[in-house]
Amino acid sequence: MNTGQYTCLEIFAKQTAAGGRVRVLSKTQETLEQAAGGAYYAWLKFSLKPDTEYEIVCDDCEVSLCYLSGNENILETGVRYLERTGKESGFILQDLAAWYDRPARETYHFAPWKNWMNDPNGLCWFQGYYHMFYQFNPHGQEWSNMYWGHAVSKDLIRWTHLPIVLEPQKEILADPETIKGGAFSGCAVADEDEVVFYLTRHQGPLQDCADTVEQQWMMRSRDMIHFTQEKCVIENPPEGASFDFRDPKVLKIGALWYMVLGSSMKGRGAILLYESKDREHWEYVQPLLTEEKNQIRCFECPDLMELDGRCLAMGAFMEHHDDCGRYQMSRYYIGNWQDRKLEITGEGWFDFGSNCYAMQSFEHQGRRISIGWISDFYGEHVEYPGGAYGSMTIPRQLRIRNGRLYMTPIAEIASLKGEILYQGSGENFALQTIQGNAYRAKIRFAANTLFTILLGQDDDRSISLIHDAEGLRIETKGVKSEGIVFRADVEEVKDLEIYMDRRVVEVYVNEGEAVGTKLFYNTSAEGCFELCAMKAGNVVRAELALMKSIWR
Ligand code: FRU
Repeated sequence: MNTGQYTCLEIFAKQTAAGGRVRVLSKTQETLEQAAGGAYYAWLKFSLKPDTEYEIVCDDCEVSLCYLSGNENILETGVRYLERTGKESGFILQDLAAWYDRPARETYHFAPWKNWMNDPNGLCWFQGYYHMFYQFNPHGQEWSNMYWGHAVSKDLIRWTHLPIVLEPQKEILADPETIKGGAFSGCAVADEDEVVFYLTRHQGPLQDCADTVEQQWMMRSRDMIHFTQEKCVIENPPEGASFDFRDPKVLKIGALWYMVLGSSMKGRGAILLYESKDREHWEYVQPLLTEEKNQIRCFECPDLMELDGRCLAMGAFMEHHDDCGRYQMSRYYIGNWQDRKLEITGEGWFDFGSNCYAMQSFEHQGRRISIGWISDFYGEHVEYPGGAYGSMTIPRQLRIRNGRLYMTPIAEIASLKGEILYQGSGENFALQTIQGNAYRAKIRFAANTLFTILLGQDDDRSISLIHDAEGLRIETKGVKSEGIVFRADVEEVKDLEIYMDRRVVEVYVNEGEAVGTKLFYNTSAEGCFELCAMKAGNVVRAELALMKSIWR
């Protein structure tokens, strides 16, 4: 491997036998070596010379993730990942586009290089770049102790991978058989020359219980590559709140700073409100809102913002099943900011597909943009070597209209539009083989119209969007989510915008009145789209175009 312009090798290694270590060899330098982690993966960093050939040798250890960093221009170039193709072979620099181009990997939704990802964290715009951090387990495709991954973008669509930022506490790394946790979700507040981060540090037994400790920490950065030491700003939950006490989101209203935290109070999911004059010293105020629905263990990843002259709060229902059988839905609340509470005037589901969770928003140049984690709550993930669990929704612009939350994909998504495969009107149409299975379909109806659209078919498994007497819904067959009613709360359907991206589909209804995200794993990278409207004459305009990959 040649380092090119990079000067650091970051490698996560764990011993498979006593004495396990990583050696980095070059012809011109002495061999560098470091011990792999014993109980858990150690994050090893080797200083290397640029433009130099090296070989990585692992003695009695396994490596989960490996990349080159330490480059002056890293916000532009990103890290370079290395993988070994066989057990005995060496680590080879990988090409992004080829790596991501597999049937069950998104091509234009952000997803990590590999392994588990959950919530978006620290979304912000700072000095010319959008930053996205995310909950990350670099070592496997299941949730485990949490790190913060990091990526940047100039357009919120094409992302560049950056080095990992945070790792689990040293106590967890030393004793992962009995303690779990790590750097849980949090947010960023960007000033002109500095970004302030808030996050939860979780530490506790493998089964969450009253011994679980969740505290709120703060850190800063001036270049988004180096971060200050974290400082604890809230040590204990307030009286009456459960040990689930996490996911700080900070905003300014008037002259004061507010933080919302996810928790529950007396068995009801609650968003807790804190106040501060200086962003460092926080006082508990009261619950911002308490949800009356039963069986919400924690109101995770709350968000609060001023939008279109109103106040909008949202959050995710941990361990909750709704009336349609959907698991872990997310809800939004529109209201007025009254005595530091939210006087609710309207509410609804954030995403009717229920594969969207833990969304976080930020504002930039007058737009309020939200990104959600595309999660698998029905056990449908198919694991294969080098694959990833989890991705992010297309960034959505939020607006309040007619007392409802409207969400549309940000305008920049149009830059990915490729070859048009169909354009027409007044007829039904069917495309049975769509190479690459990454497309956008737009349909405009003259009036409310009933229809079935086949969005995916893989042997006896299928996914459809159906609008009939029972309303508009996504329906799956032959997969674990079969039987669950993914229903949109809309009275009629006049406009559809459908984004298919291999294993993910996002459906935007009536220019953002409702949005549904659903996973559907195809074994091939060939897709389909078949519109069967009851009154084909109602189709004013239909178009289906391929979407380009963001990994080029
Ligand atoms: C939501 C969540 C957060 C928590 C994080 C841990 O998906 O459970 O509440 O901070 O994930 O990974």
